[in-house]
Amino acid sequence: MKTLITLTVNGNKHEVNVDPQTPLLYVLRNNLELNGPKFGCGLSQCGACMVLFDGKANPSCLITVERAAEMKITTLEGLADKNGNLHKVQQAFIDEQAAQCGYCLNGLVIASVGLLNEKPNPSDEEIQAGLYRNICRCGVHARVIRAVKKASA
Ligand code: FES
Repeated sequence: MKTLITLTVNGNKHEVNVDPQTPLLYVLRNNLELNGPKFGCGLSQCGACMVLFDGKANPSCLITVERAAEMKITTLEGLADKNGNLHKVQQAFIDEQAAQCGYCLNGLVIASVGLLNEKPNPSDEEIQAGLYRNICRCGVHARVIRAVKKASA
């Protein structure tokens, strides 16, 4: 049965009329038209759908919209400031060309922001550990690590 749920996404309140058990990812993409988070596996295993929950990066494909309503959600679309200036992680990914096909990019950028929120100056090992839930089949990992290092400087 559909219910009115209020979500806080990118600093804005949104009311959505959905089944409370709907995965947050579907609501972000289909109801709010926020297509930064991607559908990859749908099983919380690839990281493509990551968003920030109260500043911490986690997949959005299994958490229900009902549970997500308790937290402040930030998607890729909410990282730039009000003037359109990119987040330092986004800029570092561009500077280091840390993308190939781009499908995993949302998850890697969000996970990197979440990592830097917790560890502002991570070592290479901490970056690898922090991004372990993000699968990239193109193999740009070395460039991703350089980008996160650059953003942490
Ligand atoms: Fe959510 Fe893969 S789509 S982790």
